[in-house]
Amino acid sequence: MDELLSRLFSSEEEESHMLDCMAHFMVFMAACTLVTLLFENVPYGRYASSKYGFAVNVKFAWFIQELPAFLVPLALLLWTSSSKTSLLPNQLLLAMYFCHYTQRSLIYPFLIRGGKSTPFASFALAFVFCVYNGYMQVRYLSHYAEYPADWVTHPCFIAGSGLWLVGWLVNVHSDHILRNLRNPGETGYKIPRGGVFEYVSGANFFGEITEWAGFALAGHSVHSAAFAIFTLVVLTSRAVAHHKWYLAKFDDYPKSRKALIPFVF
Ligand SMILES: NC(=O)c1ccc[n+]([C@@H]2O[C@H](COP(=O)([O-])OP(=O)(O)OC[C@H]3O[C@@H](n4cnc5c(N)ncnc54)[C@H](OP(=O)(O)O)[C@@H]3O)[C@@H](O)[C@H]2O)c1
Repeated sequence: MDELLSRLFSSEEEESHMLDCMAHFMVFMAACTLVTLLFENVPYGRYASSKYGFAVNVKFAWFIQELPAFLVPLALLLWTSSSKTSLLPNQLLLAMYFCHYTQRSLIYPFLIRGGKSTPFASFALAFVFCVYNGYMQVRYLSHYAEYPADWVTHPCFIAGSGLWLVGWLVNVHSDHILRNLRNPGETGYKIPRGGVFEYVSGANFFGEITEWAGFALAGHSVHSAAFAIFTLVVLTSRAVAHHKWYLAKFDDYPKSRKALIPFVF
């Protein structure tokens, strides 16, 4: 794989510059996505529409679209000279990334209960995003990122890691609550109860946004910040859309519940 990368890039400076450009482009795409989402919901789940391509089985879609986020980084670690993987801050940040994507790509798809099919366009975009982001995050952390020797005791790293952990636990727990709303074979919607759902409609999204914001704080790079910004844009829109949908659908929906941020928004 080193040989492939050396064919693509004439020097390490060139690849490093490309990684920076990719992060800036992701922020640009987040801005474009923000504008698009002001006019249209992401076409998936309860909002799915046939105008975005044929329907892909939901478990197959989640497994295949998320797999590159796990396999591309794994290939980078196994088959490239990852010169920074012996450093503790890099190891811990890589562990956070892999912890999330091991669950998301190898476990989450097989736990889904009665999920709606995914339109091909959403599936294809998610696949491309996972390849792009997987390469950007892990190539940077494994080969280029340099932190001060005592970075793991820096308040930014400690607070960021803590936020990452809390966010991940909230995300996994909230997805678990959603899944258990349905008995096997059911496909309808119910009011989520318990955990962070007592405070917000998008508890799973709140967890994931917190998670990547923490990762960005601990990682202190334009690459991790771009991912956190992209996640914020995409998932805020989903939380707001779900919140409005619940209020319109259920007369007894808890009135004090917010969309995304407990007590605030
Ligand atoms: N980092 C990122 O940029 C990013 C982007 C997208 C997603 N994600 C993460 O991926 C995970 C799934 O995202 P998502 O957008 O698919 O979440 P979602 O809309 O909350 O749906 C998750 C699952 O729960 C079901 N569900 C949702 N609300 C329900 C209710 N009230 N009653 C019964 N079942 C319900 C859905 O079924 P249906 O399919 O039938 O609606 C789906 O199977 C989340 O953890 C999210 O944070 C991350």
